[in-house]
Amino acid sequence: MSLELKTGRMALVGASGAVGREMLSILAQAGVAAQDMHLFGSRSAGSSIPYGGSELVVADLAGNSFDDVDVVLFAAGADVAREWAPRAVDAGATVIDNSSAFRGDPDVPLVVPEVNPEALHSFVAPGIIANPNCSTIIALMGTAPIHRRAPITRMSIATYQAISGAGASAMSELDRQAVDHVAGDPLTVEALPSQALFNVFSHESRIGKDGFNEEEQKIRSESRRILAAPGLAISATCVRVGVPRAHAMAIDLDLSEPLDAADARALLQSAPGVTVVDDPEQGRFPESVHAAGGDNVLVGRIRNDPDRAPGRGLLLFACGDQLRKGAALNAIQVLALVSGE
Ligand SMILES: NC(=O)c1ccc[n+]([C@@H]2O[C@H](COP(=O)([O-])OP(=O)(O)OC[C@H]3O[C@@H](n4cnc5c(N)ncnc54)[C@H](OP(=O)(O)O)[C@@H]3O)[C@@H](O)[C@H]2O)c1
Repeated sequence: MSLELKTGRMALVGASGAVGREMLSILAQAGVAAQDMHLFGSRSAGSSIPYGGSELVVADLAGNSFDDVDVVLFAAGADVAREWAPRAVDAGATVIDNSSAFRGDPDVPLVVPEVNPEALHSFVAPGIIANPNCSTIIALMGTAPIHRRAPITRMSIATYQAISGAGASAMSELDRQAVDHVAGDPLTVEALPSQALFNVFSHESRIGKDGFNEEEQKIRSESRRILAAPGLAISATCVRVGVPRAHAMAIDLDLSEPLDAADARALLQSAPGVTVVDDPEQGRFPESVHAAGGDNVLVGRIRNDPDRAPGRGLLLFACGDQLRKGAALNAIQVLALVSGE
């Protein structure tokens, strides 16, 4: 995707992280000049990170960090965002935050540009915009085009989430476990509660009193908000799989009106940001290795459930790079919208 940004001076908090690094790659490609970029971090403060043809030094956050910047991108977790995003707004900046800190705030737009760009209509800078949860973004890219034609009444999702969704330390741990496995050495398990390599395990986020983990709760609450469908029934089961990047998910929809699988396929074929990969004859369907590093969400296995009323049950399989469309790319698309590009 080619994005041209004219955003003025920018700060990126969390530049050394999995999402931060992806943002830097997209921003450099979009032509944001190195002298306009200011990087912040914690443990990485003092180190330098390649950007375009330059090296940028990461600084510690301080009271004056956001003086003279127009935009601050946060990719540093909810605690950091809660403390520092309001300070960035006080300094006059537009903030786009990747964490869950502000996603439930009705005054903060929660936006997937292809799905609900209208949520930005009332946004007035300076202020905060929240980037949705990565699984939510990928699920809605594959289902919102269907919802617009045949409103969804119930959505059931089972995810297969990449290890990089848990951050740079989990990514490194997966690589280390692969090396140790080949060497016949014992595997170290530190970044995640379970072994990442060759494993499938329940998402590590905290489980609530209702038995759903936080990732599953986010998919429910954020999807309802983004689709402006507060009564939509949504349940999810979120699981990690030992692949480096690109979340996959099986999605089961109940529709209020019949929709033939062929019509659903045609809708998705013309949806921006979606690539239909659905060729049973050739055995070609969405795969994590094909989604990884790409901008589009891949959708396939599109079929009607024969055990429901004709056309009222639709099944599909989606796969998207959660570091790009699920985080960095979505945030920068939002930035392009608010900066009028
Ligand atoms: N990974 C994904 O697929 C994904 C997808 C969607 C949303 N998100 C969200 O994006 C955010 C970043 O996730 P990530 O996966 O990139 O995590 P990560 O790889 O662990 O990176 C975290 C970043 O936050 C920085 N940081 C931590 N504490 C800080 C502090 N006190 N002050 C300044 N910087 C601080 C770290 O800097 P140092 O290295 O210098 O300590 C690092 O750059 C999280 O809110 C996450 O939920 C992640």
